[in-house]
Amino acid sequence: MAMNNVSMTCLFLLLLPLVSCTKNNQVYLVEFGEHNNGHKTLHEIENTHHSYLLLVKETEEEARVSLLYSYKHTFNGFAALLTPNEANNLSGMEGVVSVHKSHTKIYSLHTTRSWKFVGLDESFDPFEEKSNETNRDLLAKAKYGQDIIVGMIDSGVWPDSKSFRDKGMGPVPKKWKGVCQNGTDFDSSKCNRKIVGARYYLQGYENHYGPLNEEEDYKSARDKDGHGTHTSSIVAGRTIKNAAAIGGFASGTASGGAPLARLAIYKACWPIKGKPKNEGNTCANIDMLKAIDDAIEDGVDVLSISIGHYGPLKYEDDVIAKGALQAVRKNIVVVCSAGNFGPFPHSLSNPAPWIITVGASTVDRTFLAPIKLNNGRTIEGRSFTPVHMENSFRPLVLASDVEEYAGILKTNSGYCQDNTLDPSKVKGKIVLCMRGQGGRLNKSFEVQRAGGVGIILGNNKTHANDVPSDPYFIPATGVTYENTLKLVQYIHSSPNPMAQLLPGRTVLDTKPAPSMAMFSSRGPNIIDPNILKPDITAPGVDILAAWTAKDGPTRMNFRDKRVVKFNIISGTSMSCPHVSAASVLLKAMHPTWSPAAIRSALITSAKTTDNTGNPITDETGNPATPFAMGSGHFYPKRASDPGLIYDASYMDYLLYLCNLNLTQHINLTYNCPNPLPQPFDLNYPSIQIHKLNYTKTIKRTVTNVGSSKSVYKFIANTPKEFNILATPNVLKFKHVGQKRNFVITVTANKDQLPSKCDPENYFFGWYIWTDKYHVVRSPIAVSFQ
Ligand SMILES: *[C@@H]1O[C@H](CO)[C@@H](O)[C@H](O)[C@H]1NC(C)=O
Ligand SMILES: *[C@@H]1O[C@H](CO)[C@@H](O)[C@H](O)[C@H]1NC(C)=O
Ligand SMILES: *[C@@H]1O[C@H](CO)[C@@H](O)[C@H](O)[C@H]1NC(C)=O
Ligand SMILES: *[C@@H]1O[C@H](CO)[C@@H](O)[C@H](O)[C@H]1NC(C)=O
Ligand SMILES: *[C@@H]1O[C@H](CO)[C@@H](O)[C@H](O)[C@H]1NC(C)=O
Ligand SMILES: *[C@@H]1O[C@H](CO)[C@@H](O)[C@H](O)[C@H]1NC(C)=O
Ligand SMILES: *[C@@H]1O[C@H](CO)[C@@H](O)[C@H](O)[C@H]1NC(C)=O
Ligand SMILES: *[C@@H]1O[C@H](CO)[C@@H](O)[C@H](O)[C@H]1NC(C)=O
Repeated sequence: MAMNNVSMTCLFLLLLPLVSCTKNNQVYLVEFGEHNNGHKTLHEIENTHHSYLLLVKETEEEARVSLLYSYKHTFNGFAALLTPNEANNLSGMEGVVSVHKSHTKIYSLHTTRSWKFVGLDESFDPFEEKSNETNRDLLAKAKYGQDIIVGMIDSGVWPDSKSFRDKGMGPVPKKWKGVCQNGTDFDSSKCNRKIVGARYYLQGYENHYGPLNEEEDYKSARDKDGHGTHTSSIVAGRTIKNAAAIGGFASGTASGGAPLARLAIYKACWPIKGKPKNEGNTCANIDMLKAIDDAIEDGVDVLSISIGHYGPLKYEDDVIAKGALQAVRKNIVVVCSAGNFGPFPHSLSNPAPWIITVGASTVDRTFLAPIKLNNGRTIEGRSFTPVHMENSFRPLVLASDVEEYAGILKTNSGYCQDNTLDPSKVKGKIVLCMRGQGGRLNKSFEVQRAGGVGIILGNNKTHANDVPSDPYFIPATGVTYENTLKLVQYIHSSPNPMAQLLPGRTVLDTKPAPSMAMFSSRGPNIIDPNILKPDITAPGVDILAAWTAKDGPTRMNFRDKRVVKFNIISGTSMSCPHVSAASVLLKAMHPTWSPAAIRSALITSAKTTDNTGNPITDETGNPATPFAMGSGHFYPKRASDPGLIYDASYMDYLLYLCNLNLTQHINLTYNCPNPLPQPFDLNYPSIQIHKLNYTKTIKRTVTNVGSSKSVYKFIANTPKEFNILATPNVLKFKHVGQKRNFVITVTANKDQLPSKCDPENYFFGWYIWTDKYHVVRSPIAVSFQ
């Protein structure tokens, strides 16, 4: 009887699109427990999964189409479309450990919504330190990354960009097992010795959003968005002379950090229907898990993931954390962006200790586009707009003074939103529009619509000095909050306010740089307050790299039809691939180093000062804390010879996860010790202690990777609130590879603690081990009970 009902419903619904028949089907993850698939082929695994589905589905065909993904490495199981009943039946079967609904988690790419401009050849960019032969040396020693394969989980790639040509490159490394998947405007001819593989993942996306709108993206690894092309070329783009963004800005040589490394493209991020690309893209959890699974199987060495979830997820709910752990088990370095939800505390994503988590900072280049007032003064502005104003003054007005009365709420005033300006009051003038509501490009379209000849974008108090540089369609510039106030005062005090927007120009060697980007997500880590994150910062503001021919430089696909070969954008999405490239070079130079060793080398060698010799600052102008910059700005040359490393293995991470009660989910046969280790005892190159109750001791082990005979001394720098001691405080090494244990004792200075203790109020210090040549630095963050 029940069966009949089901068929009846289906028959009835056949009049509607076929998908309605499977309406009750939802995405489930079926798990079999411990990973034991190493020796099986994916085909064998799929057959096993199919046989389970045959037991609950009515037909062979139904079983076949319901299987979305079989996983091999990231976990032992599959994703399938099931009814609650079928799920229930499966969960009772032998070997099945768990069956649960996969709630689609919306991850997104970590580009800021502010699209901006700059180049990779920064004088302090370690890859391109021009007159500095030592860096050439580093690249040469690493053979420019030619033996290393980097998996990019992103929005695909524009394979026709010159950045990805394979001229002169040697054969693809033999270990590579990946494929070049056919699809729209993409077939195996698009892969070469640079792009060695390309795949795409749509099951999770389409089950959540419905079929891909092929107007909005390619059903293939081809990148319409631009993001994946940009990140891929930051890691491994070929060196291109005379590269420049729109209008010739940031012209110079563009090059990936590891220009001969190989790229493996895993497209798992897609547009959200009906939204401009700069506002909506999404990467579904089961798609990303499969992308990571394939990357492990295909044989990548480094995974670069500029993706995160808004609001950090617990490790057990986070496919990036889960997938990355299994990647690390296979010796793959996983580098992720920290997110663009700064400057607020607790805004950080991807905090797992087996991942390298990267914040974003500025480079020493900017695009100045000043405003000349007819009282003789000049106000500094920023822009890389390719259109210029005639050499004459134009009347300058404030948007809130020239609005159409009807339809504008007081609270909406001054923002130049669509259809707000009065053309009779704007024609032929420059309009000062406030930021805070609406998109910046949209504001310029509104000024243009009303007949204005130029736009100044004024920061509000919240934005302060964070002035984005953008490519507009009319003469335009952006100003700080302070300068906005000056301009408003000028407009309201001058009888005849007039201005001229001067053309923008690229300015190098700006100081101070680097400085933390306001948008870069901040610690403390709320998933595990015993792990200090982010790990490091790298260039993420106004980065020049390759672009798709199918999306304008502003990613406003609806309105910006301009075609550019290179583009300047910002985000931790851009800083992450810088560190991925550094990891490629380190891995090439030190093939036996574990992912933890590479992370340790990067963390302990990072630079903490800017190009004025002072501590790196954040958006407030104060020294940045480790919650913004981790241990500091990455410094690949020093990381290639770190002296000592803090190593950790996959088994160490399982032990660490015992504290969070997660080990049994990952490994049924692993027995957590009793008593459990302390959560901060994972051999991490930085230290965070949450709610210190007077004193704690922390174990660490370092491995000598420097000179065979060496003596390292301990030096600490602490705030008045706590002290650090090391026992022993001298480490002697007789050979390379030798390990030494020590214990760090952190003790509160009771009489120096704030009278009211807030466990979320952290104090920062650092300690180093130094043999005079190497300086192995670890930041430390402590809060008190
Ligand atoms: C599911 O399980 C129930 C009870 O165990 C059984 O009666 C039913 O036939 C099963 N259905 C399928 C499709 O296997
Ligand atoms: C190269 O870099 C090193 C270390 O940063 C510095 O000491 C040296 O002076 C630089 N060389 C040149 C030619 O700039
Ligand atoms: C991919 O496309 C190429 C040419 O377009 C074709 O020769 C090849 O058979 C296709 N491969 C697969 C697996 O479909
Ligand atoms: C300033 O900008 C921020 C960020 O866009 C916004 O949240 C805030 O409401 C704005 N404030 C004013 C007074 O416009
Ligand atoms: C810009 O305008 C487009 C088209 O009107 C609209 O879809 C989009 O949401 C606007 N963006 C912002 C940030 O206001
Ligand atoms: C750990 O999990 C076990 C069983 O899953 C449970 O009994 C125990 O209470 C959990 N411990 C903590 C600290 O959450
Ligand atoms: C599970 O733990 C055992 C030791 O108990 C170890 O040998 C095995 O490699 C682990 N496997 C996984 C997938 O964690
Ligand atoms: C802090 O440590 C003291 C002495 O070791 C102990 O008596 C006290 O209970 C601890 N406080 C907390 C909240 O754990």
